Amino acid sequence: MTLKIKDFKHYKKVYADSVKNPEKFWAKQAKTFNWRKPWKKVLENDFRTPAVKWFVGGKLNITENCLDRHLKTQGDETALIWEPNDPSRPFVTYTYKELYQAVCQAANMLKSKGIKKGDRVCFYMPMVPELTIGVLACARIGAIHSVVFAGFSASALADRIKDATCKMVICSDFNARGSKNIPVKKVVDEALKKKCDSIETVIVHQNTGEKVPMKKNRDVYWHKAIEGQSKSCRATQMDAEDPLFVLYTSGSTGKPKGVVHTCGGYMVYTAFSFQNVFQYEKGDVYWCTADIGWITGHSYIIYGPLLSGATTVMSEGVPTYPDAGRFWHICEKHKVNQFYTAPTAIRALMALGDHWPSHYDLSHLKVLGTVGEPINEEAWNWYKDKIGKNTLPIVDTWWQTETGGIMISGLGDLSPQKATFAGYPLPGIQPCLVNAQGKEIKGNGKEGLLCIKFPWPSMIRTTYGDHERCRQVYFSAFDNMYFTGDGARRDKKGMYRIIGRVDDVINVSGHRMGTAEVENAVNEHDNVVESAVVGYPHDIKGQGIFAYIIPNKKVTNEAAFVKEIRAVVTKEIGPIAKPDQIRIVSALPKTRSGKIMRRILRKIASGDTKNLGDTSTLLNPEVVKELLKKK
Ligand code: PRX
Repeated sequence: MTLKIKDFKHYKKVYADSVKNPEKFWAKQAKTFNWRKPWKKVLENDFRTPAVKWFVGGKLNITENCLDRHLKTQGDETALIWEPNDPSRPFVTYTYKELYQAVCQAANMLKSKGIKKGDRVCFYMPMVPELTIGVLACARIGAIHSVVFAGFSASALADRIKDATCKMVICSDFNARGSKNIPVKKVVDEALKKKCDSIETVIVHQNTGEKVPMKKNRDVYWHKAIEGQSKSCRATQMDAEDPLFVLYTSGSTGKPKGVVHTCGGYMVYTAFSFQNVFQYEKGDVYWCTADIGWITGHSYIIYGPLLSGATTVMSEGVPTYPDAGRFWHICEKHKVNQFYTAPTAIRALMALGDHWPSHYDLSHLKVLGTVGEPINEEAWNWYKDKIGKNTLPIVDTWWQTETGGIMISGLGDLSPQKATFAGYPLPGIQPCLVNAQGKEIKGNGKEGLLCIKFPWPSMIRTTYGDHERCRQVYFSAFDNMYFTGDGARRDKKGMYRIIGRVDDVINVSGHRMGTAEVENAVNEHDNVVESAVVGYPHDIKGQGIFAYIIPNKKVTNEAAFVKEIRAVVTKEIGPIAKPDQIRIVSALPKTRSGKIMRRILRKIASGDTKNLGDTSTLLNPEVVKELLKKK
């Protein structure tokens, strides 16, 4: 285990030491893992290019640390509990030994299909154990996993497959979500019709067991492909800086980019942050409700917990199926000790009534966590009161796909608590606030753009296939700093509160969406000349999507048009990107240089029409009147 912080005083000391000598601090943490060969140098720090390397020359395999090293000491203890969508079906458990064997078997299956170190394997699957097993099987043989959230459309899936030139897709037949069975293999088939020439094999896991068409010489069932494969598989030796996975995320411009994380630093940081943020103790049962299609699932369902020898719960279903008590039922059933979810889920459950959690025994809970978006005070209080019985700590964990692990957060019950504040940085993390000119804003009680001014082990290394994009997006805004895209406030005591994105990224139910991406999808409709998409406050989702659309021809049936726009966005990206509000307009407010003035559109979308600010610099100020009239 890595260093375990004991109390707040201890945190302060560890933090100060970690900042004074980061290399010493991280080397000490890294030494608690199994390395095939030790590193020669802890850090190569080129934050500008960027070309950051951690544990240079070190050799390891992350799965030996997730699985093999626990076999002797806790081989028969539970590694994974899988809770199916349908509560009347039995849950499934894997001990560390069973998980090890399943991963080895799957790794041999991948090898038998020609997958080698460095090949990319795409996963498009619901939350089933085979997803965790498959991901670890890739890591075992050095293949790079690229998990795509199974709610994305065929087009979005095809884009990701092509960008990473994946050799294989692993999918399920169907996704059982609530009362619905959603086709999965069908989406893969559609995606593969879109020139995904690199794909050689599709492995289909039977989830619901309903029949799906199988293409000869390409598609094979998981259970068939795994038949007869050995349950042991020597792990491939990886360099600390070899890529472990690619995960696509949205930004303010262009198509989603593949964030690349590497083996050594990611391993050290996810384990360290998991153990400290959740104050994990041996024997604890930990449940993160995220989907493995997002970074939270990678770092804190799979890697962080398994590296720590924890029992990690994975659930297939949705929070409201069969009823709004499902989360709390699962907590009671598996005696969950640490529970980690998103503010959007808390708000949705809060709206359904206080009585739901009151029916269940939540006495095993020790730490409650939230992630993905700012948590509003009402939801924080409800979580604290109704789930935490006013005694449990809430860790509001701020981080990003690019940071790989939790950056700013309370540590269990050790840290001071303040509603809506993420709190203090983890050891080794050096956040700062800067103004628009990139000058650091020192001192407390200040607000600014959130940057990180020193490398940390699990930071993004590159964007797949396009390193310059990585530099431009994250490392060029301010000199020698990583720019997060978020605004933040530091209170008088130095605690951070995340205000939200300051770029053209919106956060819908904790899902990151680029406005440009949604606009491109909207513009695919034949009757759209131009569109502008902005976020607006939404009671449950945090932010909703508001689309202003200029049609080509007059829209005679507005309801039908709105339906078509939603359908086109669902087709291009997926249902999560569907606009909540659509307004047909004749023009968009533009500056003289032709840029859309989004500030005005955001204000109108949020109903804040009194204070639109200076509109005199607009090329077409009359359009503002039209937009206001429509409200
Ligand atoms: O705006 C921040 C918000 O989510 C963004 C990162 O999104 P993604 O890469 O999808 O990762 C989400 C899960 C780690 C951030 O730039 N965000 C994340 N956590 C918080 C948050 N905003 C406020 N408070 C948080 N705890």
